Amino acid sequence: MNPASKPPELKTVPDPDALYPAAAEEFSRCAQGAIAQRGRFCVALSGGNTPRGVNASLATTQKNVLAWDKIYIFFGDERHVAPDDPESNYRMANETLLSQVPIPAANVFRVHAELVADAAAQQYEDQLRGFFRLSSGAWPRFDLIFLGLGDDGHTASLFPGSAALKETSRLVVANWVEKFHSYRITFTYPLLNHAAEIAFLVSGETKARILRDVLEPAGTVSYPAQLVRPMDGRLLWIIDQAAARSL
Ligand code: 6PG
Repeated sequence: MNPASKPPELKTVPDPDALYPAAAEEFSRCAQGAIAQRGRFCVALSGGNTPRGVNASLATTQKNVLAWDKIYIFFGDERHVAPDDPESNYRMANETLLSQVPIPAANVFRVHAELVADAAAQQYEDQLRGFFRLSSGAWPRFDLIFLGLGDDGHTASLFPGSAALKETSRLVVANWVEKFHSYRITFTYPLLNHAAEIAFLVSGETKARILRDVLEPAGTVSYPAQLVRPMDGRLLWIIDQAAARSL
């Protein structure tokens, strides 16, 4: 573990109905801080199901609170599908949040996952480099990245045994995921670990075992989520009691 990285912080809440507003409040806190200090908030959303409730909570409680014109939305990963596909993380975010708040369309950077996977990843990386005005070798520093935890220990689209786990120079890659027999487009560890804050959102008893194995590793098996360690940032786990029951 990077000596500079801080130990993870756990915030345990009773149930999903408490987790969603807790995550929305964390988004709001980070957003207001970043906007006050730097005039903008750069955040990457997670995909899957848990974020649906978080996004809905954001849309209902923060719509008229946050300066959405100063918020810039990215995606930590995306399925290799068109933006209107039911599997699309962008579609989910658009339905549950982006279409519900006054965020300019130009502030939302979706992965063009309708392209050939490698081209989609390269284009997203180029977009990141341009937006953050990165010189070569530099890394974007997101103010906040939301992540989920799969029951196999994956996060974003960094799946066990997949090639992206070894990527150290790219920001974004197309990652072949054998279990789905498809590509995913994903942030890489270096990009994730340059963030100012990473917040994992984990809910439900189906995640209890993997959460224990990730947070309290007993054996030699390691999981992709364990390698997410902001080098100079905060690592926060917002979990509900069902997910925490084996800790
Ligand atoms: C995706 C996500 C993925 C997700 C986990 C957990 O595209 O599916 O990025 O990494 O966060 O699978 O999903 P849930 O929180 O819905 O269980």
